[in-house]
Amino acid sequence: MNIVEPTDKNLKLAANLIKKGELVAFPTETVYGLGADGLNPLAVAKIFETKERPSFNPLILHISGVNQIDLIANFENVKINNLIKKFWPGPLTIVVPKKETVPDIVTAGNETVAIRMPNHPVALRLIDLIGNPIAAPSANMFGRLSPTTAEHVYKQLGNKVKLILNGGKCRIGVESTILGVKEDKIFLLRPGGISKEEIESVIGKLDNREEQLKSPDSPGQLPYHYAPRIPIKFLDRNSVNETEWKSAGVLLFKKSGLGKKFKVAKTLSPDGNLREAAANLFNCLHDLEKENINKIFVEPVPETGLGVAIMDRLKKAVNKYL
Ligand code: TXA
Ligand code: MG
Repeated sequence: MNIVEPTDKNLKLAANLIKKGELVAFPTETVYGLGADGLNPLAVAKIFETKERPSFNPLILHISGVNQIDLIANFENVKINNLIKKFWPGPLTIVVPKKETVPDIVTAGNETVAIRMPNHPVALRLIDLIGNPIAAPSANMFGRLSPTTAEHVYKQLGNKVKLILNGGKCRIGVESTILGVKEDKIFLLRPGGISKEEIESVIGKLDNREEQLKSPDSPGQLPYHYAPRIPIKFLDRNSVNETEWKSAGVLLFKKSGLGKKFKVAKTLSPDGNLREAAANLFNCLHDLEKENINKIFVEPVPETGLGVAIMDRLKKAVNKYL
């Protein structure tokens, strides 16, 4: 059994596991989280692998002090600062412009990052011990109920997670409220542990999200809709057009001589490891986007394990240009 009490010794054990790139489930006041070092892309890829999530959702970075915001985000917003003062630590998540330090797999390629300071002594102590923010979704298998006890986590994840820190029953029991920010506007992205009324009592009326969705001036501002700004299509080795390749970029799954035939080549994982490929996916797409190329060819990856999520994202990107 991997459920342990949050003694000093076990907390240190948990922190060391996370620092080494492993996953640990931990209690928060809302639901249990499946945590990884938020600045380690390979560790974050393990989260998706373990949950068997068929797509990449952006994850929340959990911090233990407001001083950690500077490490991962860059924003100036009086309303948000007032909300932080009032509700942190607590079930409030803010989505704000991210800094380079945040791996792309955490934000699923978005230019924004979700941050929250949980109100649970075990979570706060764990983050303190690690020194880095913890990336964590709810500690359930894809499509199943969020866990509010350590036993719920065990029932779903079993020994797929190294350690489950027992913090008893979650006090709030529903996920955090998520707010998006754009310039001086603030939108409700997900209702949760803090009500709209409570939020509006601090900052006045929330802005209407429909308006933001109607005029997205930066595609990166919207969740789940990231596609490179350069047309992208799947690489089909049966219909080779090498002249076309010379002015294009290629995103290869693993190391191959084929890359030389393109203007630019990026490789997701030289040895063809799907976890590494997932960790590098968004980063490679961002890098290709910066190149002076007129098209991106992408090699399909095997649709097993994390390959399902990788292909989901690639198919969505390719569909945009069909
Ligand atoms: O209470 C909670 O928030 C729990 C505990 C563990 O902290 N966490 C949680 O995580 O509910 P998760 O992964 O199940 O839901 C996080 C949601 C994502 O599905 C996505 O909708 C949103 O947060 N999100 C994260 N980053 C975002 C971003 N950059 N832009 C827009 N939405 C984002
Ligand atoms: Mg969830």
